[in-house]
Amino acid sequence: MTTAIGQARLHHLLLYSETPEDLVVFYRDVMKMEFTRKDGIHIGHGNRRCIMISEGPNRKLGFGAFTYSEPSELRTLQQRLRGVGVPLHESPCPILNDGFSVVDPDGNRLVFGVDPGNQGGAPDALAARLQHLVVATNDMQPMVDFYTDILGFEVSDRVADDEGDLRACFFHSDEEHHSFAFFKAPTKRLDHHSYECGEWNLIRDWADHMASFDISLKWGPGRHGPGNNLFFMVNDPDGNWVELSAELEHITPERQPGLWPHTEKSLNLWGPGILRS
Ligand SMILES: [Fe+2]
Repeated sequence: MTTAIGQARLHHLLLYSETPEDLVVFYRDVMKMEFTRKDGIHIGHGNRRCIMISEGPNRKLGFGAFTYSEPSELRTLQQRLRGVGVPLHESPCPILNDGFSVVDPDGNRLVFGVDPGNQGGAPDALAARLQHLVVATNDMQPMVDFYTDILGFEVSDRVADDEGDLRACFFHSDEEHHSFAFFKAPTKRLDHHSYECGEWNLIRDWADHMASFDISLKWGPGRHGPGNNLFFMVNDPDGNWVELSAELEHITPERQPGLWPHTEKSLNLWGPGILRS
């Protein structure tokens, strides 16, 4: 059974860091978010982007939070998850008090709530909306089953190797090609999070902006196969992969899930790819 998750959008994520104050500096100065602190959590808001940072192991995801503009959609998801016996937990998020959280088969926590609206921040900062979250897993099928059959994400594209084994899967929860994805890798971990700029010119502007901080691009500029988006990636001070993306494909109702070969070119049509396994 697959039931649509509804119009859920990635709103923010919480990153753990052994040196949270240092990580805040990157997201404040480079990603142009303004930070407040609540319950020991640093909360950053920028131009349609939000990130939270708390003390914990480096490069570990605390949670990813998806929100709905319509409270009824949240309640529909909540009732459906209760109906199939998925344990629902309190929201650990300081700005989504009416939400709830679930834990996927790998232990990643997802929070669902109602969009809290404008939380302040830097409205004039260079545009880039927090848009998708990607994790790595060493056990694909339970994750696929959970995200499709239980949560109701829709598959946009798959990547499979020559033996037909699934190596990556991209999921959408609104019209954008993916709001969540996972790659097969030796370990379960956070892979990256991505900010969507919209226009290619803003990839240029963001790359210039990175250069002004002497931050070199670690991958790209390139164009992903699945999603067809232009991108580059940098590392934050903890080594988290941060993606700037533009022109991500919009899904039409008649579009069928695609299948890509497990090659570097699938991950970057323009040049070298980074295969996770
Ligand atoms: Fe991405």
